[in-house]
Amino acid sequence: MNILVTGGAGYIGSHTVVALFEAGFNPVIVDDFSNSELRVLDGLEKILGFKPRYYAQNCNDPAVMRRIIRDESIGGAIHFAAFKAVGESMLEPLKYYQNNLGSLLVLVQTMLECGVTNLIFSSSATVYGQPDELPVTENALLPPSMSVYGNTKQIGEEILRDTSAAGKEIKAISLRYFNPIGAHPSAHIGELPTGIPNNLVPFITQTAAGVRPSLTVFGNDYNTPDGTCLRDYIHIMDLAEAHVESLKFLTENSSSSFYDVFNVGTGQGCSVLELIRTFEDVSGMPLNYRIGDRRPGDAAAVYADATKIYNQLGWRASRTMREGLADAWRWQQNMRIRDETPV
Ligand code: UD1
Repeated sequence: MNILVTGGAGYIGSHTVVALFEAGFNPVIVDDFSNSELRVLDGLEKILGFKPRYYAQNCNDPAVMRRIIRDESIGGAIHFAAFKAVGESMLEPLKYYQNNLGSLLVLVQTMLECGVTNLIFSSSATVYGQPDELPVTENALLPPSMSVYGNTKQIGEEILRDTSAAGKEIKAISLRYFNPIGAHPSAHIGELPTGIPNNLVPFITQTAAGVRPSLTVFGNDYNTPDGTCLRDYIHIMDLAEAHVESLKFLTENSSSSFYDVFNVGTGQGCSVLELIRTFEDVSGMPLNYRIGDRRPGDAAAVYADATKIYNQLGWRASRTMREGLADAWRWQQNMRIRDETPV
């Protein structure tokens, strides 16, 4: 089956392309390369043995999407394409609402027109804010979002829930990602942050590689075992495979209309200091870090109850945080060797 992968040159998208191919699906990438690079396709070629089919297009254009879906005989879609910088989303709300929700509306409408039913949507654990109970289940009430980015994920979920509830012929799953880390073990693809990374692991690997002078740990006075925040770090290949299992479930599901939401995490909360220590152990290098102030908007602790996705889709994380850090470090070193470290 041919699967449309919007944002397929991005971090999660590119790893999912590999997992799709390994499971016997044919991924077709649509990516406007606004926050990804063409060389990702070279990395994919090294892993897959061929360059995947791709369209350098923005998926906000219904005519473009209609043509690709028909020309490629698409049987399902995974929608990754979105802006994801939390801080920028607060400064440019219209840009985020237009791009993240406009592209979802166009995709759902063109899928309905073309009779394509299976859709996986990239949501985020950010919809939970600071959960009242941990580990957090999918039944937790969602608080008003702390960011425009987070709100686009909440509204995206609602668009799919309401479209399915109206009996439209769409079968959709929203996956609430916890914190993806790592890279493909081949080190041919990985995370390519533009500029200064916002996320913890690319900041750590760039610091260890000498691209950044030091890492600041954002606060050690939280009500957690060592005072630093707890997160659920999931290996990017585990996350990629969760998409494949979700897609298989939808394609085997005979109902004409379906919607559900699943957490995709390991179920383990890990502190920033614990992650740093594991990285030092894996890399054999001391990391230059200091404790700084809290980052506004950070929740003290967020980790998943991942039983629903295991019970219903049979997926669970099989790789460790240690493997994720080892793969992230190998990827960073590979970039260094080729002198391609993004600065
Ligand atoms: C962030 C986003 C979330 C997004 C996710 C994608 C915010 C508030 N949330 O989640 O919406 O879906 O990335 O992966 O931006 N940390 C440091 N020093 C650093 C960077 C991070 O101590 O230089 C700490 C943070 O305080 C946090 C942990 O590391 O406790 C993880 O941070 P990060 O990788 O940015 O992810 P989240 O904030 O969980």
